[in-house]
Parts: sequence; structure tokens; C-alpha cells
Amino acid sequence: MTYKLSLLYNVYDQVMTEILFCFLQNTGIDLTNIIEQRSGDASGLCFFCEDKDAVNNILKEINKKNLKDVKVKIEQIQKKDWQEKWKENLEAFKITKKLRVIPFWHLYKYKINKAEDIIIDTTSSFGMGTHPTTQLMSEFIEELKGQYEDVFDIGTGTGMLAIIAKKYGAKKCWAIDIDKKSVLIAKKNMQINACKSELLKCCSFENFNKKDQFDLVIANILTKDLLNLRDKLIEYVKSKKYLVLSGIHDDNYDELRKYFDGEEITHIKTKKKNNWCAVLYRVDSVFKEKVKR
Ligand SMILES: C[S@@+](CC[C@H](N)C(=O)[O-])C[C@H]1O[C@@H](n2cnc3c(N)ncnc32)[C@H](O)[C@@H]1O
Repeated sequence: MTYKLSLLYNVYDQVMTEILFCFLQNTGIDLTNIIEQRSGDASGLCFFCEDKDAVNNILKEINKKNLKDVKVKIEQIQKKDWQEKWKENLEAFKITKKLRVIPFWHLYKYKINKAEDIIIDTTSSFGMGTHPTTQLMSEFIEELKGQYEDVFDIGTGTGMLAIIAKKYGAKKCWAIDIDKKSVLIAKKNMQINACKSELLKCCSFENFNKKDQFDLVIANILTKDLLNLRDKLIEYVKSKKYLVLSGIHDDNYDELRKYFDGEEITHIKTKKKNNWCAVLYRVDSVFKEKVKR
């Protein structure tokens, strides 16, 4: 059985949405599983979970927070009811200045331009590029065009960022994800877009031990994981090349900067959108320990 847990409030409120997003993210729920709901005046977030204990645990956390005006609703539902419904309303949209995302299931409606269109299929509403964390990362990949030949996408999801990097000329692209289903979907999306990932593997970055270094390392994962993985992330970046981090809520931005900025890594630029941030760093060799290959 799947549980749908909704956090609802009466009037649409962007700030409240972001607070709840951040709250859920901090209780360990992956962004991929959180869906924003907006119908009429009512809004909120919901996520789906198959583990009753996890649902109870989140309820406990919500009660502790004393989130006034937030109504909590739990429903038991059939998986397929929610898995397909959101797809109907998602049309093609621009994700960066140049690139457009086309949902695979609406492919027949559009005339495809290979240089500018990315076709994405997925089973979850995350990973289509509608979330600011993906959009900010996509913009950085576009802006850095010409400055990378090899790219490592950590937490690839639907593979969208890896595909964008390939579109912009990456010759080698590694992509990993802790989630088996995501890796299968990323593989399919690579094929649809006639791209090839030189390594596409189901693995957590924590346990990933194949050593190499890249011109561009990108990671759109939980901020707490970015913090824990700081040194390892830096190890994978070539000297004078780039590390881009996303998935950082405004509330966590200062902590991330405090923890990441250092002698071996220079902050270049931060982009913000709807209370989310993405950060571009350059990694400098002088202070960096060389990776033993
Ligand atoms: C927020 S989604 C980002 C997906 C995609 N890169 C994007 O920007 O749309 C995070 C993805 O990273 C994966 N992930 C989270 N932590 C990870 C880790 N430590 N190692 C590898 N993958 C991870 C999740 O399974 C999920 O697919």
C-alpha cells in the first residue's frame, strides 16, 4: 500500500511552500518524492511513501514543529492513481536560454530541433526540470559551455543534466544515482536523446570508488549530503576546473558556504531562484592533494 501524506494550507503562499519543502528535505525525504500541489486557493506539498513507520516518524516531526495553519492529511492510495496523473498537464517548456524540455509522452505534439530540445521520460514528477534546483544547474552547464570535456553527474535522476552536458559538447560523462529506478530511466533518456554516458551506475557517491578527475562535477542532492561529501566531491575535480552544487535551500546557504569555501576551492558565483540556490566553485590545484589513480 502507498501512503499519500499531504501538508495543506488555505491560501497559496510561496514562502510556506519553501519552508515545508525545506522541512521535508531535512527529515530525509528526497526532493524527487515531493510534489507541489495547487488547486484553487488551496496549496501544499505531498509525497508518497510505502513505509508506514516512515510516515509516522514524519508526523512526529511535524507535530514537534508546531506548524500552525498546516493541515496534515494521510490517504492510502493505489500507486497508479498518482503516478500518471500529473503528466497530463506538463507541456514543453524552456529550461535555459537555449534549451527546451519536451515530455516524452507529448512528443507527437512538437517539431523536434535536435540542438535545442531535450526529451525526457520519467515516472516521478521530479526530474522533468520543473524544479528550480535543476533549472539553476542547467543554466550553469549552459554558461560553462566550452570549458569542459568531461563531466561527472552525481545523483543523475532522469539523466537530464548529463544529457544537457552532452548536448553542450561533453565528450565523456559519468553519471551515478543511488536509486536503481532512476538509473534505468536515465539510461532510457540517454537513448531517446541519442547520447551515451561513458559510465552510468547505480551507486551512492559515498560508496563510489572508481577514481578519476573531471572538468565539471555537478551534484544536485541534499545539502546535508553535500556537506558530508565535501572533500570527496573536490577530489573528483581537475585543477582549475569546476564544481557546481545545487539542491541548497536559502536556509542552508550560509552553512554550505561556510563549510565549502576554503583555500583549495574558490567561490565563483551563486544563482538563486524561488528560495533555492546553486553554487559554482573553481577548484585550485596548489592546495589540493593529488588523487592517486
Ligand atoms: C534532487 S534529485 C536531482 C536529479 C537530477 N540531477 C536533477 O537535477 O533533476 C537527487 C538525485 O540524487 C540521487 N541521490 C541522492 N543522494 C545521492 C548520493 N549520495 N549518491 C548518489 N545519488 C544520490 C537521488 O536518488 C535523486 O535521483
